[in-house]
Amino acid sequence: MKIAVAGTGYVGLVTGVCLAEHGHAVVSVDIDEQKLAALQSGVCPIFEPGLAELMHKNRERLIFTADGPAAYREADIIFITVATPEKRDGSANLTYVYDAARTIARSVRKNTVVAVKSTVPIGTNDRLDALINRDLSGIAVEVVSNPEFLAQGTAVRDTMHAARIVVGVKNRETGEFMRDLYKPFNAPLLITDRKSAEMVKYASNDFLALKISYINEIANLCEIIGADIDAVSRGMGLDPRIGNQFLQAGIGYGGSCFPKDTAALYFLADYYDYELKTIKAAIEVNKSQKLKPLKKARKYYASLAGRQITVLGLTFKPGTDDLREAPSLVNIPVLLEEQALIRAWDPAGSDNFRRLYPEGIEYCRTIDEALTGSELCFIFTEWPQILAYDLNSFPKLMRRPVVIDGRNCFSPQAARAAGIIYDSVGRVGPADGSQNLNGETGALR
Ligand SMILES: NC(=O)c1ccc[n+]([C@@H]2O[C@H](COP(=O)([O-])OP(=O)(O)OC[C@H]3O[C@@H](n4cnc5c(N)ncnc54)[C@H](O)[C@@H]3O)[C@@H](O)[C@H]2O)c1
Repeated sequence: MKIAVAGTGYVGLVTGVCLAEHGHAVVSVDIDEQKLAALQSGVCPIFEPGLAELMHKNRERLIFTADGPAAYREADIIFITVATPEKRDGSANLTYVYDAARTIARSVRKNTVVAVKSTVPIGTNDRLDALINRDLSGIAVEVVSNPEFLAQGTAVRDTMHAARIVVGVKNRETGEFMRDLYKPFNAPLLITDRKSAEMVKYASNDFLALKISYINEIANLCEIIGADIDAVSRGMGLDPRIGNQFLQAGIGYGGSCFPKDTAALYFLADYYDYELKTIKAAIEVNKSQKLKPLKKARKYYASLAGRQITVLGLTFKPGTDDLREAPSLVNIPVLLEEQALIRAWDPAGSDNFRRLYPEGIEYCRTIDEALTGSELCFIFTEWPQILAYDLNSFPKLMRRPVVIDGRNCFSPQAARAAGIIYDSVGRVGPADGSQNLNGETGALR
């Protein structure tokens, strides 16, 4: 099949490469010249496990171009995978989706399916269908809602071995066309109407966000009353009705999806005068959870000015170079404002962070380098290198081994046994700052 993909981001590039792996000829379109230059020279512009290798393996079937009209003209199916970021009012910005749709409308010359993988508010695909078909004569385009469920960090695996594929169609035949396309992926396929498919995406993401905010609130309460969130999560997760995923307490969710998708569904419901109270709570909890590390730091140090502080992990989660909505982006600007001296380490996100903050942060190549001489260490991302790091090195390298772990990377007992003043999320610990190097009570200074 001849396939065109509008957008070569996390979703578009992975989609195109995985479809090429199943033997299709894929033309991927983007408007970002820099990204295209990298792709055309065979370089994968994003960090996603297994993607560069698969892209290289299928290079004969992959074309990258800025020429949307040429790509869309001949395609049997066109995927729209452009971004739908959050607007200031919380609604989804559909500018990129509509731009792509208008180019498609101007370009197509035969009956085509347009499958929208971008996450779009319920009803958008009906409007896109009307827009694309408005000035066409003699040919018909059907817009299909085909929400994407991949997670960054496991995007290739999630696509090649999808837990489910959801397709929202207007006509039954289009559903069968999509079933044929996805047959080699061997995944459970749900064919439904467009609005329901659009809702499956939002309802799924918002449910996971809610689950995270819920466990984070329980963790906060555990800290107050002296219970252990690890045990609580394990105990809850053993119940198959609850499941053990998304029950890891931490400093909140980030990324390009949960924050904007909770905001967009809340906005949509509000537009129809319905308040989604559960989603509102998930958003509020997440917002304050992200700032917990700074709040905790103040229990140990009255002022952070002039102090050397280590940040381990900048990305919103491990396995990606993506910084979107990462807790680092709300905590670090405050540290900079307070004139702390920051040494940061991240195995994939440092270059992207440096682009945003070229000054005021020393970007380190190793965890050792980042820790040396610091008085405080924040852990924002649970990178495997941190999980495997020798606890004894914290007190050895730091001037004062105060570690505020936002991702519960270590056992509190082991951390304390190593001589670390260790503060994690929802676990019994020196939450009041009373344990410190000098045996003093209260903040270190
Ligand atoms: N990233 C994820 O984990 C994920 C998972 C599921 C769903 N989604 C959804 O998929 C969509 C894409 O997300 P992403 O993370 O891949 O975005 P992204 O920002 O990584 O990539 C979008 C790409 O589209 C390009 N683009 C913009 N306008 C274009 C146009 N008119 N024609 C061609 N290319 C154009 C941009 O230059 C960019 O390269 C969003 O709606 C998102 O909510 C993302």
